[in-house]
Amino acid sequence: MDQNIPADSASAPKSGVTAPAPTPVPAPEVTVILPTFNERDNLPVIVERIGRALSGVDWEILVVDDNSPDGTAAVARTLGQHDRRIRCIRRVGRRGLAGACIEGMLGTQAAYVAVMDADLQHDETLLMAMLRKLRDGATDLVVASRYVGDGAAQGGFSASRARASQWSTALARRLLKVELTDPMSGFFMIRRELVDAMAPKLSTQGFKILLDIAATGHGQLRVAELPFTFGARLHGESKLDARVALDFAQLLLAKYSNDAISFRFVLFCLVGLSGVAVHMVSLYAQHTMTVSSFNTQQGIATFITIAWNFIFNNAFTYRDQRLTGWEFAKGLLEFELICAVGAISNVGIASLIYSDNNLWWIAGLGGALMGAVWNYAVSAAFVWRRH
Ligand code: GDD
Ligand code: MN
Repeated sequence: MDQNIPADSASAPKSGVTAPAPTPVPAPEVTVILPTFNERDNLPVIVERIGRALSGVDWEILVVDDNSPDGTAAVARTLGQHDRRIRCIRRVGRRGLAGACIEGMLGTQAAYVAVMDADLQHDETLLMAMLRKLRDGATDLVVASRYVGDGAAQGGFSASRARASQWSTALARRLLKVELTDPMSGFFMIRRELVDAMAPKLSTQGFKILLDIAATGHGQLRVAELPFTFGARLHGESKLDARVALDFAQLLLAKYSNDAISFRFVLFCLVGLSGVAVHMVSLYAQHTMTVSSFNTQQGIATFITIAWNFIFNNAFTYRDQRLTGWEFAKGLLEFELICAVGAISNVGIASLIYSDNNLWWIAGLGGALMGAVWNYAVSAAFVWRRH
């Protein structure tokens, strides 16, 4: 509650003497967003270092923690109790670096926002140089790049990750026409109002927030790059795993097609295609082993295939909202029902097309596509509800 308003206004003196108007406290000039997942031990160190690097600047630190089991959010709160410039958003039921960064950048009024890792792999002494660039007014976005000037990535990288990083950088630059030398960098500073404007177009999934911003900016951003050396982590371990490759492909496709192609649907169809192979194998196995009727065998193979599709869609297509435990069992049951209806509509549509033009392959494809669209749309609405 505002300290200038008496808690019990009825008992306040009615003498006409009003309390002085509160002095407005302007927003800080720069907010440093620290996305965290299990960074309890690193946080006090990085916060202290940022404070030193930005001494003389009106700064703020916003920790965006995805409910880390190690209690990072509680550490941030304790730091904030001693220094109100340190704030924390604790997100529950959500995970993802890009989403955390976006939420942080939208959670401040500062003129400039910086995003940096909390594990000390990023050199905080660069913040001041970044800020100066933006203050000059000729730059919208300053990126700390490992691949410009004497920048480097030695300390923080395994050889295989270095290769993957360079390969994906080349691909992103070619496909999305992003001019940055290091669009995968997780360390940058930008005018906040620009992020505000493009926020609805940014993807909350994956790691590649900078690439997303650069691609969404369509070459309109005035960019500067500063060399930096990607250091080694202080405590804990990296959260990047093989799934970020999927996230990356998703972002490329979405941006390349101007959001016209849904990567989820593409994945859904790929899983469905793998299901065709599973169907044939299970049919063949039953055919050679059992004496049941063909219809029973086909029914069992269909059941197995739908279960297969469910497991793989749950693991990949909907990896960001994976169902576990009871939810998994319930989802499997729903998916079996939905896809059974999908199979019926597949046959219905196919025979309709066939009766019309007698081309078996057009009829077959039409039916399969119809079934896939139905399965996708209905399972998105009922099984994985957050899309
Ligand atoms: N809130 C939140 N949610 N934070 C996360 C999550 C998440 O799901 N995953 C990771 N973080 C935080 C970490 O706690 C750390 O502060 C920062 O994001 C970077 O995560 P790391 O797990 O240390 O990533 P990295 O070192 O492997 O990758 C870094 O370098 C890459 C360069 O190739 C990141 O800066 C990447 O963005 C960058 O692309
Ligand atoms: Mn790291």
